[in-house]
Amino acid sequence: MTTQVKFLDTTLRDGEQSAGIGMTVDEKLQIARQLARLKVDIIEAGFAASSPGDFQAVQRIAQEVHGPVICSLSRAVAGDVDAAWNAIKDADSPRIHVFLSSSEIHQMHQLRKDREDVMTMAVEMVARAKSYCDDVEFSPMDATRTNPDYLYRMLEEVIKSGAKTINIADTVGYAIPSDFQAMLRDIQLYVPGIEGVTLSVHCHNDLGLAVSNSLAAIEVGARQVEGCINGIGERAGNASLEEIIMALDTRKDLFGVELNIDTTQIYAASRLVSRITGMSVQANKAIVGENAFRHASGIHQDGVLKDRSTYEVMSPERVGLPPEVQLVLGKLSGRAGLQARLELLGYSLDREEVTGVYQRFLELADKKNEVTDRDLEILMDEENRTA
Ligand code: KIV
Ligand code: ZN
Repeated sequence: MTTQVKFLDTTLRDGEQSAGIGMTVDEKLQIARQLARLKVDIIEAGFAASSPGDFQAVQRIAQEVHGPVICSLSRAVAGDVDAAWNAIKDADSPRIHVFLSSSEIHQMHQLRKDREDVMTMAVEMVARAKSYCDDVEFSPMDATRTNPDYLYRMLEEVIKSGAKTINIADTVGYAIPSDFQAMLRDIQLYVPGIEGVTLSVHCHNDLGLAVSNSLAAIEVGARQVEGCINGIGERAGNASLEEIIMALDTRKDLFGVELNIDTTQIYAASRLVSRITGMSVQANKAIVGENAFRHASGIHQDGVLKDRSTYEVMSPERVGLPPEVQLVLGKLSGRAGLQARLELLGYSLDREEVTGVYQRFLELADKKNEVTDRDLEILMDEENRTA
């Protein structure tokens, strides 16, 4: 079994399903470029058939963003599969991701279809996707509440139709790490052909277990994980990618897996997603929260001043917070400090632009002890509106 774990980022698709957010095509492109710098393996750029705007966003990302595989989601219906292909066909490495509900609850109450008809739809639409593109992923939606024998049969059939990645979706965040591990072990035991495809997991956070479930899955052989930056997504969100990445990176001794990720791009990705979606990151959020590397108590500060490892399990530099930008920004800060911090937040400005922003920064700094990242983002928004 390979030791490589791949990351499929779905911030632009499942992340956009967070209540109350919407992103423009240009905003999606900005995020996709940052995800490429972060070196995620696959970007799920959207759901091409869902709207003309989403189609356009997926198409532009496919044409303009290089490095990761570019993927579009698709229901198991012909029109969706065709739209997905039309949107991604210019990508260096395109992928179609077909999903269909496998649980009785979904099939009975939502799809209102017979389970054998659903099986046929899955098989036929994976085959249709395969006729366009070699790289096809299939997700049984609500897999964790599905009858196991039916699930095994569905997976066996879609593998025969050409699916190369099988993504076990914990759509409603129902799984618990121990039972999720048992389920994944059984899938590997009872589904013929599973050894020849990539086993993936897609965990939601309804019980606050999305990251734990994803890590538990990796322990028993999952080699692709799906999630979103800052853990955004439907309801309580998707698994937070930066938390999974840093758990694997920090506890290499336990997991022994390899990642392509450039962890030093995590902070910039987090700030960019927060700024564009308007979803703030709680201060005590692991890895990217404002307080994640701040020490308040005297004993802790004493330890950290002697050696950071006393109270830190990873260095701030590892997630993209270099020492110079851990410095407080205020009225004594210079242009270089301001520019470095703005770059870290995902803005690229030339010297002249920095000089313009710097005047407004000083006016603000005169009124405050510390100019925070959020203050800078508001300042940049105002600057862009007046430009
Ligand atoms: O949560 C889910 O089941 C999904 C699928 C479309 C993979 O997002
Ligand atoms: Zn989902």
